Amino acid sequence: MEKIILTGDRPTGRLHIGHYVGSLRRRVELQDSGLFDKIFIMIADAQALTDNADNPEKIRTNIIEVALDYLAAGLDPEKSTLFIQSQVSELTELSFFYQNLVTVARLQRNPTVKAEIQMRGFSETGEDNKAGIPVGFFCYPISQAADITAFRATTVPVGEDQEPMLEQTREIVRKFNATYGPTLVEPEILLPDSAACLRLPGTDGKAKMSKSLGNCIYLSDPAEVVWEKVRGMFTDPGHLQVSDPGKVEGNTVFTYLDAFCRPEHFDKFGDCFHGKKASFDFHSLDEAKAQYRAGGLGDMMLKSFLNAVLNDTLEPIRQRRKQFEKDIPYVREVLRKGSAVAREAAAKTLADVKRAMRIDYFD
Ligand code: TRP
Repeated sequence: MEKIILTGDRPTGRLHIGHYVGSLRRRVELQDSGLFDKIFIMIADAQALTDNADNPEKIRTNIIEVALDYLAAGLDPEKSTLFIQSQVSELTELSFFYQNLVTVARLQRNPTVKAEIQMRGFSETGEDNKAGIPVGFFCYPISQAADITAFRATTVPVGEDQEPMLEQTREIVRKFNATYGPTLVEPEILLPDSAACLRLPGTDGKAKMSKSLGNCIYLSDPAEVVWEKVRGMFTDPGHLQVSDPGKVEGNTVFTYLDAFCRPEHFDKFGDCFHGKKASFDFHSLDEAKAQYRAGGLGDMMLKSFLNAVLNDTLEPIRQRRKQFEKDIPYVREVLRKGSAVAREAAAKTLADVKRAMRIDYFD
C-alpha cells in the first residue's frame, strides 16, 4: 500500500509557532525524508467558512498568507501538493454520502466540536440571544473525513486537538467499508512526540496559542516583535530575585525551550546575553533548568536565550517568506496547479465510492 500524507490548516490567520512545532516542522521533515509516496497539504478554506460565512474576504486573504507560511517553512511544491479545499468539489460530494453514516448524537459527542461551540459562544438551544450553530460547522468532522479519505491518506500529521476528528474519520471508514465493501483507507494520526510540542501554550501561559487571545508569536513576526513578546512572557511568578529558586514546570519560557532548543544552540548562544558574553555558560537545557531551580538564573537572561533560539529558527523562515512575498503570482500558480492534481486524486476515490454504493448508474 502506498504511504500517503494528508493534512492542512484553516486559513483564518497567519500561522504561529504553535502550528510550527505542532505540525508544520514535522511535515517538512516527513517531506524531506522521502519515505512517503505522496504528500497533500490542504488549505481548508471551505472548513474555515463553516463559521466565517459572513467574512469570505478574510478567508481569501489568509489563503495566501498560509501558503506563504508553508513555503517559508520549507514545504516544497516539487515534493508536496499544496492545494485549496474548495477547489476540489469532489470533497463535498463525498461528505454528502458520508453524512448518512453518522448520527447527530455522535457529532454532538465530538469533543473538539463541543469545545469549539463553547469557544465561539454559539447557542446550543437556539432559545437565547446568541447565534445558533451553523449546520455546516456542526458537520465539519464529516467533511474532514472526506478530506482525508479522498486522498487515501495513511498518515495525518496534526496537533492534539485533531485527535477526535481522526477517530471520527476512522469510524466513518469502518462503517463505509462494512456497508459497501472495502473501499476506503483507515488513516493513522501522527502526533508530535514531546509534550511541549503537543500543546504549546500562549505567551501568557494560557493553555492554547490563539489569535483571539492575542498570545501568539507568528512565523512572520519581525525579530523586534518576537523580542517584545518574549520579554513579556510569563515565567514563575514566585521567582522575583535572580537568586530566588525558580519553578521550571509550568514556566512558559522553559516550555518554549523544550519545543525549540537543539543541542547546537548551546554552542551558539549558551554563553551570551543579547549577543554579548555573559556570566554563565550552559551546555544543555538540563543544566539551565538545574540552575534556575537552584536560583541564580534571571528571567531576563533566560528570555534572552530563548529569543536567540527562536530567532535561529525563525530568521530563515522570515527571509524565505520575504522572497515569496515578492512573487505572489508564483504562489497562486503553486496553489492552482496543486488543486488540479488534488482534484484528479479525489475524483478517483469518488468514482470508487460511487461504484461501491451502486450509484454508478451510467458507467
Ligand atoms: N481542522 C483542521 C484545523 O482546524 C484543518 C483540516 C481540515 C484538516 N481538514 C483536514 C487537518 C484534514 C487534517 C486533515 O486546523
